Amino acid sequence: MEKKVSIIGGGHVGATTAVLLAAKEMCDVVVVDIIEGVPQGKCLDLYESGPVVGFGCSTVGTNDFKDMKGSDVVVMTAGFARKPGMSREDLLKANAEVVKSCMDHVIKHAPDCMLLMVTNPLDVMSYYAYKLTGFPKNRVFGMAGILDTSRFRTFIGMELGISSVDVQAMVLGGHGDSMVPLASSASVSGVPVPQLIPKDRLDAIVQRTRKAGGEIVGLLKTGSAYYAPAAAIVQMLECLLKGTRRLLPVSCYLEGEYGVKGVFIGVPTVLGKKGVEKIVEVEMAAEEKDLFQKSAGIYKDNLKHLPL
Ligand code: LAC
Repeated sequence: MEKKVSIIGGGHVGATTAVLLAAKEMCDVVVVDIIEGVPQGKCLDLYESGPVVGFGCSTVGTNDFKDMKGSDVVVMTAGFARKPGMSREDLLKANAEVVKSCMDHVIKHAPDCMLLMVTNPLDVMSYYAYKLTGFPKNRVFGMAGILDTSRFRTFIGMELGISSVDVQAMVLGGHGDSMVPLASSASVSGVPVPQLIPKDRLDAIVQRTRKAGGEIVGLLKTGSAYYAPAAAIVQMLECLLKGTRRLLPVSCYLEGEYGVKGVFIGVPTVLGKKGVEKIVEVEMAAEEKDLFQKSAGIYKDNLKHLPL
């Protein structure tokens, strides 16, 4: 096919992304993993589903990073996942090593790609990848906001007993407990959510959204979420490959937007063929603005722990 996406990491997130991506037949898919046989086995199995599902794009599993050559987008999912009781930040040191070695391969084999980061702690690892690769800031960004927003929309839909597809909302800030679900501007088919849900219930939904990744880790016990993360990655890939220029929350490098500098954090962006084509500054309620600034401060502070 005309487009090619390589996914580093053939675990639950990487493999589920490959499945969703192949079903949409948007691009050829390569999954790279260091474990021998696993990416090959998963991708052959996936390819063998093509005649039934109805796709003809190639899905190739490999242990050789050279196979990323010519990728339009590289999705970085490799890294350790949380265990119950851990915060995403507890993964910083171990995952920094994984990111470092994978970025060496990205620089060597796919120097012109757009780099979609997924490894946790997401905002810190995105910053690290940006610094390691030296890619322009529009080509390095992280997936978290769409996932957190999808959870927020789901909980609002559950509360109202309606389809969450009709819930519009955005979650900004860092991908951790300090994230900022914008309750003030959430709506259901244009009707403001604060008119539909009492404040105490809406506050509880905001709290559940902040802890939603941990809720899944607590249930699974051996890893973290993958269906919703993979769906969020694929939505971003669709924008990047088709140039649909949707307005989506994405972790990207700020240079003064929202009064924040030198840090990756989730903000509304226009995603298109060139990656992050625009950062959009939206109005927030005073309390949300405050929380956003605090979240940016936390993630700036975390950058100190990176081996740069
Ligand atoms: C989550 C992990 C992937 O939020 O960060 O589920």
